[in-house]
Amino acid sequence: MLFRLTDEQLMIQSMVREFSRKVVAPTAAERDRTKEFPADNLKQMAKLGLLGMMVPPEYGGEGADTISYVLALSEIAYSCASTAVVMSVHNSIVCESILRFGTEEQKKKYLTKLTAGKMIGAFGLTEPEAGSDPVSQTTTAIRDGDFYIINGTKRFTTTGKNSHLVIVTAKTDDAQRHRGISAFILEKGLPGFKVGHMEDKMGLRASDTTDLIFDNCRVPAENLLGQEGDGFKLAMTALDSGRIGIAAQSIGVAQAALDAAIRYAKERSQFGQKIVKFQGLRWMIADMATELEAARQLTMSAAAMKDQKTRFTRQASMAKLFASEMVNRVTGKAIQIHGGYGFTKDYDVERYYRDARVFTIYEGTSEIQRVVISNQLLKDTRSP
Ligand code: CAA
Repeated sequence: MLFRLTDEQLMIQSMVREFSRKVVAPTAAERDRTKEFPADNLKQMAKLGLLGMMVPPEYGGEGADTISYVLALSEIAYSCASTAVVMSVHNSIVCESILRFGTEEQKKKYLTKLTAGKMIGAFGLTEPEAGSDPVSQTTTAIRDGDFYIINGTKRFTTTGKNSHLVIVTAKTDDAQRHRGISAFILEKGLPGFKVGHMEDKMGLRASDTTDLIFDNCRVPAENLLGQEGDGFKLAMTALDSGRIGIAAQSIGVAQAALDAAIRYAKERSQFGQKIVKFQGLRWMIADMATELEAARQLTMSAAAMKDQKTRFTRQASMAKLFASEMVNRVTGKAIQIHGGYGFTKDYDVERYYRDARVFTIYEGTSEIQRVVISNQLLKDTRSP
């Protein structure tokens, strides 16, 4: 498919590019060092409509398509991957799940705050013993009159500490396996709900990743998201969208690494000439750009399928798989081109390399993407 961006998509891209490079980029390295949550960026992003991009205007969103979202998220990731992951989870997983599964009351109550940036959202699916296999989660939600009582621990929750609202999955009927998992909207401040251990990570250091602990946490029954037993389906549907978001982040970081590598190669001289003259290095740059373009096309294709309302599970996983592995190769090569300087904190490529490392892991490892892709292919391929 050949992509020709519409005037509106080009306008969104250029507006976010300008914001990202002027406002987000200058403080990104400092944030990486101090681990300071990008609260100020998010406030400004809310004003630009970046915190409810695909939510219809009636709930305060922009009603933009997924292609515009991919373009915007890539531009934010270009400058700061930590800010981008918060934007990605908030938009693709939290807002979209409430939009798709929420009641009218839930949409009015929560989406309007999420799109305005008055609430930042997180998603609690993973547990200490349930990562790639979320069906084996052990958090429980037991009905008690007009409430559910939630007990358990969630792990690796992006924005666990700095979010105001978390969609949490829990077992309401253990015997039903994946059909016995339900999802709940939990606001911070509920008794029995606290933030636990905060991870000290290799990358994405300004985005907090925490445990969430539920100790007899009483949640009003009206906060059930979807029907009882919808939780696994909700999580899988959310991850389809989320994976397009991770692919978009990969594209942004890879583009930043490629641009930095080209800049450096044009400035640096060795053996009496600019290193960009060496064919070995030019070929490296050509390979980086080619892989990046391939990832971009796959991601746009998955986004277009989503916009056309066709099933895009396989394409989202392909985009996430390819783009996340691509950015690890591209940031590695960007360091190689920088030589010893690339290994120091004086150059941004060092941060890009660390930030990108988790992209092949979170929202489903590369191995899980291959499971999803092969499952879908085998299901879709009819015997003659
Ligand atoms: N959309 C809708 N429904 C789906 C679906 C999808 N993409 N994928 C599966 N389902 C449904 C199936 O239709 C099936 O439903 P029925 O039985 O009612 O028909 C049900 O879910 C079970 O499907 P499977 O048998 O395929 O499920 P499985 O147990 O074999 O698991 C899996 C499949 C792909 C391995 C899945 O478990 C998976 O994606 N694992 C990875 C989880 C993951 O990505 N975790 C990251 C968490 S978030 C994070 O990283 C941090 C953060 O803060 C964002």
